[in-house]
Amino acid sequence: MLCTNLLTGNYIPNRYLHDRVVNRHCYVIAFVTLRRLLGYEGLEVINPDGGEEDAQEEAKKGRWKQEDRDSYWKMMHKYIGSDVTSMVTLPVIIFEPMTMLQRMAEILEYADLLNKADECNDPYLKMVYATSWAVSIYFAYQRTWKPFNPILGETFEMTNHEGISFISEQVSHHPPMSCGHAENEHFMYDVTSKLRTKYLGNSLDVYPVGRTRVTLKKTGEVLDLVPPPTKVNNLIFGRTWLDSPGEMVMSNLMTGDKAVLYFHPCGWFGSGRYEVDGYVYNKDEEPKLLMTGKWNSSLSYQPCDMEGEPLPGTELKEVWRVADVPENDKFQYTYFAHKLNSFDTAPQKLLSSDSRLRPDRCALEQGNLSKAGVEKTRLEERQRAEKNHREATKQEFTPKWFQLTGEITSTPWGDMEIYEYNGKYAEYRMEVEASPSAADIDDKNLDFNPWQFEESQIRGA
Ligand SMILES: *[C@@H]1O[C@H](CO)[C@@H](O)[C@H](O)[C@H]1NC(C)=O
Ligand SMILES: *[C@@H]1O[C@H](CO)[C@@H](O)[C@H](O)[C@H]1NC(C)=O
Repeated sequence: MLCTNLLTGNYIPNRYLHDRVVNRHCYVIAFVTLRRLLGYEGLEVINPDGGEEDAQEEAKKGRWKQEDRDSYWKMMHKYIGSDVTSMVTLPVIIFEPMTMLQRMAEILEYADLLNKADECNDPYLKMVYATSWAVSIYFAYQRTWKPFNPILGETFEMTNHEGISFISEQVSHHPPMSCGHAENEHFMYDVTSKLRTKYLGNSLDVYPVGRTRVTLKKTGEVLDLVPPPTKVNNLIFGRTWLDSPGEMVMSNLMTGDKAVLYFHPCGWFGSGRYEVDGYVYNKDEEPKLLMTGKWNSSLSYQPCDMEGEPLPGTELKEVWRVADVPENDKFQYTYFAHKLNSFDTAPQKLLSSDSRLRPDRCALEQGNLSKAGVEKTRLEERQRAEKNHREATKQEFTPKWFQLTGEITSTPWGDMEIYEYNGKYAEYRMEVEASPSAADIDDKNLDFNPWQFEESQIRGA
């Protein structure tokens, strides 16, 4: 018997249904309200490795000194229920030295899985590779620091990895929207992202409003990815941790094949934590391959029958395993995250709007928090002055590397306007590479300049 998820219309094979119901239940009752403890309404503290009693101990832990914690809580509690994506001025202590534009490139760490998907002739195994690529980023994304919001017009370029040329750009400030485009000989990756959040006191729901598409070059197949939402737990009280309970759906828009993976919620004493399983279905919604693993370590697949049971005589094969990470890294960075912040992945003649050059990001990387805070405020003020000047002179902001299409896409968390890559970045890179002076420029000394206007034009605005 197969059951249907009423929201998505996907079939849920029986063997996962039991697990799912049991785990959800545990998750809900593992919440402990801190009302008794601290006099705060509706705060939930969850120790992912513990039970109900452990939550009270957990509440005393975390990254804050008590007086900082209490003043932060005082500032934040009035935002409960709101979208804090761009609303509040947050202190740099919760930031990591990276921006959202860099994070868009971070998903390309395991791009070799997309190369394999492109080369693969088995339509279902192809979906296994592509879906494993989509899962592979969650290990790196469990970092508990917030990336910087990009400044309007800011960009990030990446090269020297799997033959990829990558460009991302902040195309809108309110609401914050970022676009990215990557390409190598095997695939194109196109993303428009307009994250929405809901602040819940001690946790934050992050809704991945956006559109992520991969085009495989050999066949022209387009794969569309809908990831699960993410929950940041224990933001203020307790040690912060993330999980992304829910469904990930990867659809092949040409063939109708689909992979549906279920990210288990973390139950009591860590049960179900990191677990992911699901199936690749053909266009008639018959399961063909099962996938199982943990998003923090590895994923495997195996052929299955119509009931979703493994086919006799077949075995589970590993398709992805997470790479080693640096020990005791200050920001829980992977080696690849470090590379993204370095000039090893920067092309010749970097654009001066690049995230690497942001003075607040650089100061935070060097461990100078007070400087990072001052620089962040300075950038935010300049951005406001630009906006005022733009409005006063009735000018518009036009992205350089992407353009608005008339298309609106709907996601489970809201509708979104789609931007598309306009092709100009490839032309620009060709010109740069043809120019003999390109190699002589020392990009590290460039001033960060994502601005539309000269400083003198907006002075006094
Ligand atoms: C993933 O989580 C499990 C606990 O479920 C842990 O034993 C394992 O070491 C983790 N893997 C990595 C690479 O951190
Ligand atoms: C941080 O930066 C400021 C301003 O550039 C500088 O005066 C100060 O010495 C720096 N502090 C540290 C610890 O490097």
